Amino acid sequence: MPQRRTTFSQFVAEDRRRSGAADADLVGLLNDVQRACKFVAAAVSRGGLGARPAAAAATNVQGEQQKPIDVVANDIVIKTCEWGGQLCGMVSEEMAEVYRIPGEYPRGRYLLAFDPLDGSSNIDVNMTVGTIFSVLSAPPGVSEPGPEHFLRPGREQVAAGFAVYGPTTMLIITLGAGVHGFTLDREPGAFVLTHPDMHIPETAQEFAINASNERFWEAPVRRYVEECIQGKAGPRGQDFNMRWIASMVAEVHRILIRGGLFMYPRDTKEPAKPGRLRLLYEANPMAMIVEQAGGAASTGRERILDIVPDAIHQRVPVILGSKDEVQRLVRYHQAFDRGEDLVFHTPLFNTRSLFRGDAVFAPR
Ligand code: AHG
Ligand code: MN
Ligand code: MN
Repeated sequence: MPQRRTTFSQFVAEDRRRSGAADADLVGLLNDVQRACKFVAAAVSRGGLGARPAAAAATNVQGEQQKPIDVVANDIVIKTCEWGGQLCGMVSEEMAEVYRIPGEYPRGRYLLAFDPLDGSSNIDVNMTVGTIFSVLSAPPGVSEPGPEHFLRPGREQVAAGFAVYGPTTMLIITLGAGVHGFTLDREPGAFVLTHPDMHIPETAQEFAINASNERFWEAPVRRYVEECIQGKAGPRGQDFNMRWIASMVAEVHRILIRGGLFMYPRDTKEPAKPGRLRLLYEANPMAMIVEQAGGAASTGRERILDIVPDAIHQRVPVILGSKDEVQRLVRYHQAFDRGEDLVFHTPLFNTRSLFRGDAVFAPR
């Protein structure tokens, strides 16, 4: 007798039934999303063998360089999810405006926000990338949504998840009651439940941050990183490892498996931008996943899921992962904002290491 394996489609349908909120539209939508992720996984895995889009990609609405595969992945998600009748609009990192469902297809009551390819700067060097998605309900009666209909706090997300295209392709999902991981079995082409009920350890030995921005960080982040780097000899009394993959999907996936902290904090590099990551289709879905797995997600000053967005491509500072570590950083921000903290002074760089061992803390 074949071993019984739970596929993504079956899991989602049964989950909805168990919750008493059977919802064929949501089940259908999530099925389309998982199918889109399989197509994107296939496109990504073909690498240099893949078809090139007719027009070379250039710059997206955020002024960032688009890779051709960003455009391919965006197109895959749209084409796979637009026809089913569950959606009335989509927002994507790669599209300036809200995408309206073409007139030939029925409209549904859900809104989809997505990052078709996260970490795409890694694509040329054959490292892990992924797709992030967030599902919201459209207000009753809305069939032609505008940007304002997407500007809901992340705590209202109906479902959120991400696919990670690494050595294996995985799909991680939450429908608001736990986080579940599925691994793509390429032979039958099915996502199979391999990581039910994922939990982030509360404490951590790893943190992830782009340390090349150190000179632009605020004092609380400098303090946190400096204390980690001091290791056993410092106030934390333990050694930490630092990680940076430049692919949020890969970092969050690692944190789901073995804990840790991920930060793309507020910095002064481009003062007009309060952060690097986008709220609707990066920070919110990842924050929901992390909270549902027992972790925490904050800007340092506010719970990410409580932010009321003011623009569809809004950026926010992101600090997420193991609860104790996020709470520690929030405390450092609070102390700093109350003027109780110490400002960390260090030269931009020094000859011995990126961070000075003899760091000087001076009253603010
Ligand atoms: P995207 O590829 O969708 O633009 O997102 C990349 C994001 C995120 O995945 C990663 O954590 C961060 O940008 C990397 O930024 P740096 O290049 O500044 O390290
Ligand atoms: Mn991204
Ligand atoms: Mn992207």
